[in-house]
Amino acid sequence: MSDLSITGRAVIGADAQAVARKAADWFVERLQQSEGIFRIALSGGTTPRAFYRLISGPDFREWVPWDRLQLFWGDERFVPHDSADSNYRMAREALLTRVPILEKNIHPVPVDGTPEDAARSYETTLQGLYGATALDPAKPLFDLMLLGLGPDGHTASLIPGEPVLEERTRWVAAVEHGRTEPRITLTYPAVESSRFTAFLVTGAEKAAAVKAARAGDASIPAGRLRPAGDVVWFMDKGASAA
Ligand code: 6PG
Repeated sequence: MSDLSITGRAVIGADAQAVARKAADWFVERLQQSEGIFRIALSGGTTPRAFYRLISGPDFREWVPWDRLQLFWGDERFVPHDSADSNYRMAREALLTRVPILEKNIHPVPVDGTPEDAARSYETTLQGLYGATALDPAKPLFDLMLLGLGPDGHTASLIPGEPVLEERTRWVAAVEHGRTEPRITLTYPAVESSRFTAFLVTGAEKAAAVKAARAGDASIPAGRLRPAGDVVWFMDKGASAA
């Protein structure tokens, strides 16, 4: 059963750089139409790097109100923050070191102690900033949730077959299996609690997952998402081919 809340709007770019630019234009527009603190959950992996470099580059940097932004991560690999696999490190190199954002407004996922410790600690951080331990549908946790998509239909670290897919109470969970290293991920309730959701997806190998996700196909993790707010899919021709 297709569900409009996940289908959303599709914006197609000729190639990965064009996709990043369309997403950057849209991002600046959202900021210009908002006021006050703007909370973003960053996605990891490789696709968003072009977007991060663009918004922190000469064409866009001056249009972004960096003092209003608070940055979070939708998921993180449980590796040191200086590891080549760290989503935090990728964002630090492609974005954070290039813009005047205040350190106090950057909220990396902790990667010390155990994965469970890290998940609990991050959840405490989110709930402290939100001001409650229960999510209110009328008060989204984030203004923008950035998400990628894997060919297997995972998003964030909502990984096929993992217990985290059934978690509807906690906001953050440790995912101990399914990848080479443990992951810390926002759960469905937290991922869905956003005014805007933007998927950045490129590559023909993801076309089938895109089609299933946008159709609300519950057989893949991304298809089970029911974001509270508007959803936009920024894709290249390959990813949107199905
Ligand atoms: C991660 C991401 C993950 C990613 C997809 C797509 O930590 O890897 O959060 O969900 O968005 O796997 O990754 P690519 O952009 O590298 O294809």
